[in-house]
Amino acid sequence: MSLEKEIKRRRTFAIVSHPDAGKTTLTEKLLLFGGAIHVAGAVKSNKIKKGATSDFMEIERQRGISVATSVMGFEYKDVKINILDTPGHEDFAEDTFRTLTAVDSVIIVIDHAKGVESQTRKLMNVCRMRKTPVIVFVNKLDRTGKDPFDILDEIESELQIKVRPLSWPISQGPTFKGVYNMYEKKLNLFFSDDKQTVSDDVVEITDVSSPELDKYISPYTDHFREDLHLIDEVYPSFELETYLSAEVAPVFFGSALNNFGVQELLNCFINIAPHPRKSTTDSRIVDPFESKLTGFVFKIHANMDPNHRDRLAFLKICSGTFERNKPYTHVRLGKQIKFSSPSAFMADKKSIVDFAYPGDIIGLHDTGNFKIGDTLTEGENIMFKGIPSFSPEMFRYIENADPMKFKQLSKGVDQLMDEGVAQLFTQKSNGRKIIGTVGALQFEVIQYRLEHEYSALCRYEPINLYKACWIESTNKEQLDDFRKRKYNNLAVDKHGREVFLADSPYSLQMAQDKFTDIKFHFTSEF
Ligand code: G4P
Repeated sequence: MSLEKEIKRRRTFAIVSHPDAGKTTLTEKLLLFGGAIHVAGAVKSNKIKKGATSDFMEIERQRGISVATSVMGFEYKDVKINILDTPGHEDFAEDTFRTLTAVDSVIIVIDHAKGVESQTRKLMNVCRMRKTPVIVFVNKLDRTGKDPFDILDEIESELQIKVRPLSWPISQGPTFKGVYNMYEKKLNLFFSDDKQTVSDDVVEITDVSSPELDKYISPYTDHFREDLHLIDEVYPSFELETYLSAEVAPVFFGSALNNFGVQELLNCFINIAPHPRKSTTDSRIVDPFESKLTGFVFKIHANMDPNHRDRLAFLKICSGTFERNKPYTHVRLGKQIKFSSPSAFMADKKSIVDFAYPGDIIGLHDTGNFKIGDTLTEGENIMFKGIPSFSPEMFRYIENADPMKFKQLSKGVDQLMDEGVAQLFTQKSNGRKIIGTVGALQFEVIQYRLEHEYSALCRYEPINLYKACWIESTNKEQLDDFRKRKYNNLAVDKHGREVFLADSPYSLQMAQDKFTDIKFHFTSEF
């Protein structure tokens, strides 16, 4: 098959949600429909249960699962689908944000009883920033929840994206009748006693005014017709372009647990979701159809075996064809590397591949060469953009707790930061090291992994900080003045870039108001 055909038949996306909305269930049902798995329960929830904060075996177990389910590839109707898994626990949100840099589209799952929740808002912010097309799946219609119009309003206002329903629920909860698929003009009937099978109860209804409808959805027929009428009045008709440009999100309703509305979603998804898109680098835009290979590392997974230091680097292929045993340029190190056992991920299996194409994710064995954001090319000196670090929200000083193991500690911290577990800042005034994370769990993960993988001991000390933001300015005088006044609140990140450590929202606001020529950035890429 030609490179062009391979690219056009690929869909690389992530399913994201607030914990418990149904991401794992939907992923599993998509794999079932795709024939990639045959029994429910094969996809383990990549979720650290609430209250498991100090259960490190749980964390280790999750790390094992998460490498197995990091990428789930399968073929459906001649389309190669790559689902990228994202951690469910919000303390690992940064991992999720980075995964979103490697996808071409996103499916957001919302629990229709809970509506838009905090984690969904944050994830949508990243999608909006990257103009990633999103489809929304409103889940759990078998339970009583909000009115579907209210859900749509909530999505529009809270996620700041226009919506267009492509399916519509008929009643909900105990009286849930089914979903009308506007995309295909078909009515899917719901029978709650028939929970886990693929239902064939689909009625083709091209004319919703037909009296035949009563037979299936009475006494909700009039209500349903009114709803459809209102939808056509209020929402613009579906246009592929506005979805692809991330202005409008098509919305589906269903119940993942009951396999309901999932196939409609998948059928529509393979038709409308984008194939691999262009990617931005520091010097030019890379087109996936270019013949030369380019790709970047968006995730690094340390080996679970403490006796071996090798890690798995996940490379997203952006253009060209990746070939096993062919030397490629590691741009940051300026050296040639070839890979004898690149792995591809199909459903829950990992296997060695000879070729991979744009949109594919491959796992490369790494002995410490890779950092997040590293680029592979056929010689060209470019770096991909859009793999930022996000401003952390929790901070602690990290100190060496075993003077004999200083080297091990600094190596361990260095490698964990390369993996993107957290961020390290060095305070300018006293050289003390500060770990910044997006979630409290990370501190314990770092401490545990330092001890078990690097034989190093660390201890934390509290520091009262609100946010770290990267600063820049063309006004040298103002910058110097700022540096002088805020010396105790300045640090450098691991690339040596200057960071302002604000102790409170108030001090950040004051700094922004007073130093108007200084830009305060909340992601490392600006
Ligand atoms: P997550 O990955 O987004 O965190 O959510 P997950 O799929 O694990 O689903 C969270 C809970 O919601 C699970 O129940 C799951 O069975 C349930 N669920 C998912 N989809 C539906 C649906 O369409 N209808 C209903 N009624 N429930 C749904 P749990 O009790 O937390 O876990 P489990 O013991 O069932 O695995």
